[in-house]
Amino acid sequence: METYNFSAGPACLPKKVLVAAGDAAKQFRDTGMSIMEMSHRSKTVMSLFEEITFRIKTLLDIPSNYHVLWLQGGASTQFSMVPLNVLPDGSCADYIDTGVWSARAISECSKIGKANVIGSSKDDTYTFIPKECPQNKESIYLHITSNNTIYGTQYKVNPEVLNPDGFLVADMSSDILSKPINVSQFGLIYAGSQKNMGPAGVTLVIIRDDLIGKNYRSLPTMLNYETHVIKDSMFNTPPVFAVFVVNETLKWIQDLGGLDAMAVINRKKAEKLYAEIKRNSLFTSPVAEEDRSLMNIPFVFSKPGLDDQSFITFCEQRRLMTLKGHRSVGGFRASIYNSMPEAGVEKLINTMQDYEKEKT
Ligand SMILES: Cc1ncc(COP(=O)(O)O)c(C=O)c1O
Repeated sequence: METYNFSAGPACLPKKVLVAAGDAAKQFRDTGMSIMEMSHRSKTVMSLFEEITFRIKTLLDIPSNYHVLWLQGGASTQFSMVPLNVLPDGSCADYIDTGVWSARAISECSKIGKANVIGSSKDDTYTFIPKECPQNKESIYLHITSNNTIYGTQYKVNPEVLNPDGFLVADMSSDILSKPINVSQFGLIYAGSQKNMGPAGVTLVIIRDDLIGKNYRSLPTMLNYETHVIKDSMFNTPPVFAVFVVNETLKWIQDLGGLDAMAVINRKKAEKLYAEIKRNSLFTSPVAEEDRSLMNIPFVFSKPGLDDQSFITFCEQRRLMTLKGHRSVGGFRASIYNSMPEAGVEKLINTMQDYEKEKT
């Protein structure tokens, strides 16, 4: 029986990518060596980095005045790196609080400068994206989390930055590469790899050239974007294996037809699942309809008296794994990133229908 992994991250990867990863773990491109044994200074690995950067620039249609960096430390390190690099001493930035990850970004910024929380849905367990968010005209940037992994909300339209000298910063960890984006709307984008790109271990940063090398303060070398720009993401030993797997995932997306095609597939999967949540008498979505994520779909029982664990076990017996909701939301969460096949979503829908028949 096929296993489908609905984990929020690390998440499932395309079969083809896993096979390529297995092969490269044994031997990379006729070198007689595993990719994990190869020097990042070797021609082969340097060309891998050139290839992956070219691929992401092509897929996301990144304008020429942006740099692409492959860093370590996860999106969590970016929560600090962003303000450390682009927020001058004594200045402020606006943040919209749409979940735990936004809150962490706010908390890290507050250690460096002033983070104005201009909108929050915290009091409603983050079930919607705040729309009325009065921006401060002196704010250097506006930070959003484009998709909220835990709560299942997603920006459908990005806010416009009102300060003409300001810029938008986005944590896109859980929806990067799920659809086309207009990179020029942003000053800086960052995303951890372990949802839509590959295994954990590499973090994508896309930064507009004029935001590099501001040197507002004396920074540890590793926390300065300029270090990584100058050294093409090879200042220290990079996570070559993770980068290899991301490159294979990018190839897989290109083979599917790129981000336009990916967006159509993702919409179709999510619409099917939301339709079933609506139809099924046992389940409901806690999330405001207009803000529902196409990547992470939380749902709960619509009436009391049913035991969450019994549905989780019912799913696991059918090899539908990791569907437990985040502890702060409860219920269930189906993460249906790029690599979740439509067949997996259909199997989940059939299982929800079988459960309904059993319980009603
Ligand atoms: C939206 C978002 N931002 C940030 C993070 C933190 O990422 P990392 O664990 O790579 O630091 C996560 C992790 O799930 C996330 O979903």
